Amino acid sequence: MGYKSREIRLVSRPKGEPGTECFDLIEKELPDPQAGQVLVRNQFISVDPYMRGRMNDVKSYVPPFQLNEAMTGGAVGTVIKSAEPTLPEGTAVLSMYGWREAYVSPANGLQVVDGTKAPLSAYLGVLGVTGMTAWVGLFGIASLRDGETVFVSGGAGAVGSIVCQLARMHGCKVLASAGSADKVSFLKDQLKVDYVFDYRDGEPLDHLKAGAPDGIDVFFDNIGGPQLEAALWHMRNFGRMALCGAIAGYNTPVPGPRNLAMAIARRLTLRGFIVSDHYSELPTFLKEAVPALQQGKLLNQETVVNGLENAPTAFLGLLKPGDAHIGKLVIKVS
Ligand SMILES: NC(=O)c1ccc[n+]([C@@H]2O[C@H](COP(=O)([O-])OP(=O)(O)OC[C@H]3O[C@@H](n4cnc5c(N)ncnc54)[C@H](OP(=O)(O)O)[C@@H]3O)[C@@H](O)[C@H]2O)c1
Repeated sequence: MGYKSREIRLVSRPKGEPGTECFDLIEKELPDPQAGQVLVRNQFISVDPYMRGRMNDVKSYVPPFQLNEAMTGGAVGTVIKSAEPTLPEGTAVLSMYGWREAYVSPANGLQVVDGTKAPLSAYLGVLGVTGMTAWVGLFGIASLRDGETVFVSGGAGAVGSIVCQLARMHGCKVLASAGSADKVSFLKDQLKVDYVFDYRDGEPLDHLKAGAPDGIDVFFDNIGGPQLEAALWHMRNFGRMALCGAIAGYNTPVPGPRNLAMAIARRLTLRGFIVSDHYSELPTFLKEAVPALQQGKLLNQETVVNGLENAPTAFLGLLKPGDAHIGKLVIKVS
């Protein structure tokens, strides 16, 4: 007898800002796992800004979602039926079979994770792609040195909140921006960020001047747009910019930056990166992140939304300035 699972499918491609009409929730029956396969029940799935790009039918570093097929993305779950001795029932696994309650897969495509080291959802956040992105961007791309001054746009989000913490753990002075009073309070009170501002409250450049009178050594950009321009004005000579994301332009491209020539005057390095190019460094990252998490030096801040049916709305919220989530947004499936 098959196993019933619900999944979210993309049913239309948006122009500009997407709405819930782009998604559909379908129930289907899964077959029994065959030799070498397992049936996995997801517990948490990840919704991420890069998925907005996958809604468009364009070639990029990750293929577009196919219409009328289940969407994909990070997920952690537990094997509930196994036809593969190396992955017995109860094994926790990480996969790209997100946006669904359950799936049948060959065992060799799945990554076993250790639920005793951290809650399973942490493998989608601080111990997963999110944490890796922060770490690679700061140290591999921007070559952050202890004691420097760092500005992080989108500081209260999944990646941004880890960037703030890693930079502080390395003795840096941290400035961060966010889009709501709650996020500003979180960054100030919980993460002890040195200077925090709401980027919609006054001019970002005035805030950067107030928070870092001597300029910025490293800019970790999650947002792009006007905050990128402000950072370009206020970098120190030979400063480095890790261009991680530009969410301000994901729905509708934003022009600029108009002052790119500051990169010449200040001899800046601007370097974009994609975390998946750096997965081989995951063990090195985990050597720093796991003990930091276990010792309480690194906070796994997450916002949990219950129910697969709420995943599209939660995802669409990510693409709006000042949305409610703080830290990593995950969907609890069951
Ligand atoms: N390069 C890579 O390999 C890589 C990997 C992962 C993520 N990323 C990028 O990193 C960035 C952060 O991702 P995340 O997963 O940590 O998401 P997130 O920061 O948790 O969520 C996105 C946040 O972006 C802000 N935002 C949304 N629309 C905006 C707009 N129009 N203008 C200004 N701010 C806006 C909102 O925060 P506020 O409330 O503060 O406005 C929103 O909460 C994204 O750009 C993502 O694409 C890149």
